[in-house]
Amino acid sequence: MNGTLQVFESETALFEGAAENFVAVAKSAIAARGRFTVALSGGSTPRGLYDRLTSDAFRNQVEWAKVEWFFGDERPVGPEDPESNYRLANESLFTKLGVNEDKVHRIQGESERPEAAAADYQKELARVFGGGDANPPSFDLVLLGMGSDGHTASLFPFTSALNVRKRWVAANDVPQLSTRRYTLTAVVINAAACVLFLVTGVGKAKVLREVLHGRAEPKRLPSQMIRPTTGELLWYVDRAAASQLEL
Ligand code: 6PG
Repeated sequence: MNGTLQVFESETALFEGAAENFVAVAKSAIAARGRFTVALSGGSTPRGLYDRLTSDAFRNQVEWAKVEWFFGDERPVGPEDPESNYRLANESLFTKLGVNEDKVHRIQGESERPEAAAADYQKELARVFGGGDANPPSFDLVLLGMGSDGHTASLFPFTSALNVRKRWVAANDVPQLSTRRYTLTAVVINAAACVLFLVTGVGKAKVLREVLHGRAEPKRLPSQMIRPTTGELLWYVDRAAASQLEL
């Protein structure tokens, strides 16, 4: 198996553990380098983590002004659209923590020029991380979810972004959803110091078994592409999602 698996008895326990990990990584990065760089995942799972981070138990544990917020992927919509990953984070996290918008680096999902929007996001990554275009930026933390088809971020099975090695951000056509998505590529995600998958629910149980314990089929199961070069890979799953694993 690739990475470290932690099974939680419930979603509630999983989000508590994820908030504890988030805060620990943030504190360590800020102490070491004066800031914490994080890429948020999309979908619905992160809401549970955001609720914990904005609760009285956690909200005062991090110097939020020292956090640089990025997104692992985005839908082809504007920031007010219900589908927007930014919108979920803005409503359930940034607004509640009083995050300065200068620290939130949004993917311009509404752009009519997808390739340009992807290139612009790469430029923003290079600007904030300051490493130029030579090497991929190393996030302190990349949060990821996983779809029941084995996708993560917007790296969907058999899509072109899976083959992108040189660029850090791709405008990815996803025929199975008849849409286009923006996504960090595996090369950036794998450069992170810590990658944390949050996977809950029985609906993910079959694919989780395939991804963690099945044959290597990264084109069909893109979550298998996530193998941090030097960083830590953590799988936080609840009992329901783990129900088909031989533990
Ligand atoms: C997105 C995501 C995607 C998500 C998975 C899991 O924009 O949809 O980034 O990769 O993490 O589809 O989604 P749920 O958390 O809603 O199950």
